Amino acid sequence: MNGRIVEYSIGSLRIKIRVDRKVYMPSTATLCLARNLKVAKGTRVLDLGTGSGFLAILSSKLGAGEVVATDISARAIKAAKLNAILNSVNNIDFKLGSLYGPVESEQFDLIISNPPMTPSRKPLPRYTWGGFDGRAILDEVIRGAPAHLKSDGRLLIPIISIVGIGRTYKLMVESGFKVRVLDYLIHPFGNKLIELMDHLSRLPDSDYIYDSFGRPCWRLLIFEAIKN
Ligand SMILES: C[S@@+](CC[C@H](N)C(=O)[O-])C[C@H]1O[C@@H](n2cnc3c(N)ncnc32)[C@H](O)[C@@H]1O
Repeated sequence: MNGRIVEYSIGSLRIKIRVDRKVYMPSTATLCLARNLKVAKGTRVLDLGTGSGFLAILSSKLGAGEVVATDISARAIKAAKLNAILNSVNNIDFKLGSLYGPVESEQFDLIISNPPMTPSRKPLPRYTWGGFDGRAILDEVIRGAPAHLKSDGRLLIPIISIVGIGRTYKLMVESGFKVRVLDYLIHPFGNKLIELMDHLSRLPDSDYIYDSFGRPCWRLLIFEAIKN
């Protein structure tokens, strides 16, 4: 395996990820979700939109009995498989496909997903583009989750305020979930979001705040939705 390798620490665990500039690398949202990830021993976990495989590999290391990791990108699936080998993890089943397509009739104890959520009129790279309002994939992940969770199963998902926190909470409740927030952080916009500010300011559910340096910042909440 060639390429630069980045090592991440989550508690006492170390995870190595090979850099591929066409595959989403673990981000602030990924790492915040990771720090809040608890996996009961032997359970079945779905990582929907696995990217580099980081959250699937972590779930395996935390004790999952079986992990299914899906992605719409063949390149991401290939990268994630190599990263699983790099981390000596061998109970992840990697499947190529969109949303719940690859796991049509399967149920899990836990679904984790960090869907692409950047709102933009024009297409962006698939690993980041969430459609016009950032919710194109997110809403489908939430609506489809109850059918793929066992009773008391959980959906763990980071929500960024530019796609609308209240609207996401409402959708989860309407989809039959009990919802709580596990963690919270504030993060300054990167260059891409600064370019998109005009568009964001016209989206009715989008919100952001300014920090003491005057920088626009998004808020990130880690939601845990428990199937009622
Ligand atoms: C924001 S990245 C998150 C990657 C990884 N879970 C993480 O947190 O580091 C979103 C991932 O979802 C994938 N994706 C986009 N649309 C998808 C879809 N319709 N079905 C499954 N995966 C999708 C992208 O290819 C990308 O790898």
